[in-house]
Amino acid sequence: MSKLSAQSWSSQTMFILAAIGSAVGLGNIWRFPYIVGENGGGAFVLVYLLCIFFIGLPILWSEIALGRAGKANPVNAMLNLAQEAKASKGWAVIGFSGIIASILILSFYSAIAGLIVAYFVKSLSGDFANLSPSMAEGMFSGLLSDAGSMVFWHSLVIFLTLGIVAGGVKAGLEKAISIMMPGLFVILLVLLVYAASTGYFSASFSYMFYPDFSALSWSGVLIALGQAFFSLSLGLGAMMAYGSYVGRGASLIKSGLWIVGMDTLIAIMAGLVIFSIVFANGMAPNQGVGLLFQTLPVAFAQMPFGEVFASLFFAFVILAALSSTISLLEPGVGWLGQTFGLGRKASVWFLGGIAWILGLGTVLSFNLWAEFKLVGELNFFGFVEFVATNVLLPLGGLLIGIFTAWVLPKAIRERELPVAGWANALFLFTLRFITPFAILWVFIGGL
Ligand code: TRP
Repeated sequence: MSKLSAQSWSSQTMFILAAIGSAVGLGNIWRFPYIVGENGGGAFVLVYLLCIFFIGLPILWSEIALGRAGKANPVNAMLNLAQEAKASKGWAVIGFSGIIASILILSFYSAIAGLIVAYFVKSLSGDFANLSPSMAEGMFSGLLSDAGSMVFWHSLVIFLTLGIVAGGVKAGLEKAISIMMPGLFVILLVLLVYAASTGYFSASFSYMFYPDFSALSWSGVLIALGQAFFSLSLGLGAMMAYGSYVGRGASLIKSGLWIVGMDTLIAIMAGLVIFSIVFANGMAPNQGVGLLFQTLPVAFAQMPFGEVFASLFFAFVILAALSSTISLLEPGVGWLGQTFGLGRKASVWFLGGIAWILGLGTVLSFNLWAEFKLVGELNFFGFVEFVATNVLLPLGGLLIGIFTAWVLPKAIRERELPVAGWANALFLFTLRFITPFAILWVFIGGL
């Protein structure tokens, strides 16, 4: 069995679309607004944007470059590159910790995506008609307390993901993504128009962009950093795996700019919409994981053709989530296949099975285990989310950045990421000195 990736994208555009598909998902639409709300708004957003440009973008470039140069799944790509650089095989730890992080993330991601599917069904059955904010709250807490339904929806999302990755219908999904992405974008524009009509758009705007640093703690800064990694699908090798399928002709620099630009734009749009609804209805911005589920249905209840927009919105978010979950399986499936010759189907079921079981813990964290604290204040979901997002992703990203800046032979780096003159000096300086120290600083401060 070859340790090299056999597949490849049909074009640079297909790669960019698939990578945007991986990046854009619940992280932008569900997670970003609620952690902005929990961390006080503007100052958090500012730190997040700094993390995106000084840490996320250079690490994204590095990660896809390592994938294309290493031509394999994250473990073997790092082994290949370490050999070329005459460096330690220990660098493969990036791949292993990434595979662990990917399964942890998949486990809670699919439980939340399950809630989106449940809301899609609700939108089809007209459940949002005349919904008031307090009814929306009741609807959400009712769903959370129903462990059986949540297990059902979580299982459905895992099955859909496994089916897509195992069944080779990825090509079909890639087509779906190229329609879905513009669709999601258009619906967000419609929601922005609605947000403007509430009269609370400017309140939402200043909440998100007027920095009040007294509202931000050190742990908030670490959460912003973790979110930058989470939203851009960085730090665990997903982008490395996608990068390993990219042909020589594609520009990684340009691709990276597209991915970062679209991902950030969609997160900001989602935030502006959701906070307009929050302020227009006198709701609290810091209500946590339920923020999306308790605000958007209220807006759909009020706007013309709300039922139609609601169904379209939740359908697009399901697709956006699936194009993210499939990328979470890619590193592990590639490694099991390329190293042990395990078939694609077997690898997918094995890894998906682990994620499914762990996901049950997340489901129960919202009902039967709600009071059970695993570590400190964190319940099972909180702990898995914290370890994966705020510990494993930043550390993985740190190693990816250090390897690219200091260990990877210059010729390979310049072949993969050709930037001319002063821009190259700036890029290298950022990657060598700013990015790693910023990650370490935030990481140590935050813990
Ligand atoms: N980026 C996705 C989102 O924002 C989630 C995701 C997909 C991810 N693949 C990843 C996060 C790899 C970290 C690493 O919804």
